[in-house]
Amino acid sequence: MKILGIETSCDETSAAVIKDMAILSNVISSQTIHNYFGGVVPELASRIHIKIISKVVSDALAQAQLTIFEIDGISVTHQPGLVGSLVVGTNFAKGLALRYNKPLVPIDHIEGHIFSGFLEKLNVYFPFLSLVVSGGHTALFLVHSFNSYEMLGSTRDDAAGEAFDKIGKLVGLGYPAGPIIDKLAKSGDPNKYSFPRGLIKSNDFDFSFSGLKTAVRYFIEKKYPNGLPESVLFDVCASVQEAIVDVLISKCENAIKTYGISTLVIAGGVSANSRLRYLAKERLGNFVDLIIPQMHYCMDNAAMIALIGELKLMETSNYERFLSYKFKANPTPKRARRN
Ligand code: KG4
Ligand code: ZN
Repeated sequence: MKILGIETSCDETSAAVIKDMAILSNVISSQTIHNYFGGVVPELASRIHIKIISKVVSDALAQAQLTIFEIDGISVTHQPGLVGSLVVGTNFAKGLALRYNKPLVPIDHIEGHIFSGFLEKLNVYFPFLSLVVSGGHTALFLVHSFNSYEMLGSTRDDAAGEAFDKIGKLVGLGYPAGPIIDKLAKSGDPNKYSFPRGLIKSNDFDFSFSGLKTAVRYFIEKKYPNGLPESVLFDVCASVQEAIVDVLISKCENAIKTYGISTLVIAGGVSANSRLRYLAKERLGNFVDLIIPQMHYCMDNAAMIALIGELKLMETSNYERFLSYKFKANPTPKRARRN
């Protein structure tokens, strides 16, 4: 089955083509103009989607060496996201579906992230945990099958990426600050300042990052009201990053123990963070099969939307049969510790 996926929920315009779970193309055009404003400007985002979506879709088809006539179905992100941005993608997809008489499948963006481990490799075994960490979302899911999953917990305030970006703004960095903090942190001491780790000891899987943001604000106001000197900035970045990453990994660790799970997928823009990647492997790598997709499958992308689209157009049972035929059973699952 050949599916065209379209994603325009925020500031990435993306189109992808998937054939029998193999990715033939995944074109992503990121809108950098928002960096200038220190955050995504919804009105601008939708206007840029309008300008570029036709070209992005044509490029995705061209790279897949297919024409729209050869496509079996179109899937598109319909929620959640910026309304003006979603409208562009969904209407473009509707237009194509009507004009070329193709089935149209609306896809939940978060569902795309949850299953994005399958973009990295097909033998991801159920049940698995999926940590979705981006600028808009931070949530941990227990995934039983393609059509059954539960949210174990989510952020009560800021998302992890939002925390990186807002704290970056406080210390005078550009937008998005996540990658900048990641870079500066390499020259700092992660244990120099002990910033709060929200809800790390709570008996649930919820997250909270707003206390960290407030702590950094008070720290600056009290100690460095005229701005952070460079040497301090490095240590602050490293310590802030450590606090965020520590919470993310600790929550995954608890869920692995509680549910006896042997596979963990980490996806979303924040999964690009080098410290998160390193510490997740270091702390959890012996207990789980750790899958962190390549960057272009972690950030917002249409390949994940096309994948779920194919799944929904095929019978889910056929899909799971296809996978179990290909990979038989889980050969030697790593043993997860149980409480
Ligand atoms: O998934 P994404 O591309 O877009 C959505 O928010 O949906 O994620 C963007 C977020 C931003 O908050 C950005 O600061 C963060 O991911 N991010 C990072 C890194 N790269 C991107 N955060 C920490 N370290 C990084 N290397
Ligand atoms: Zn996203």
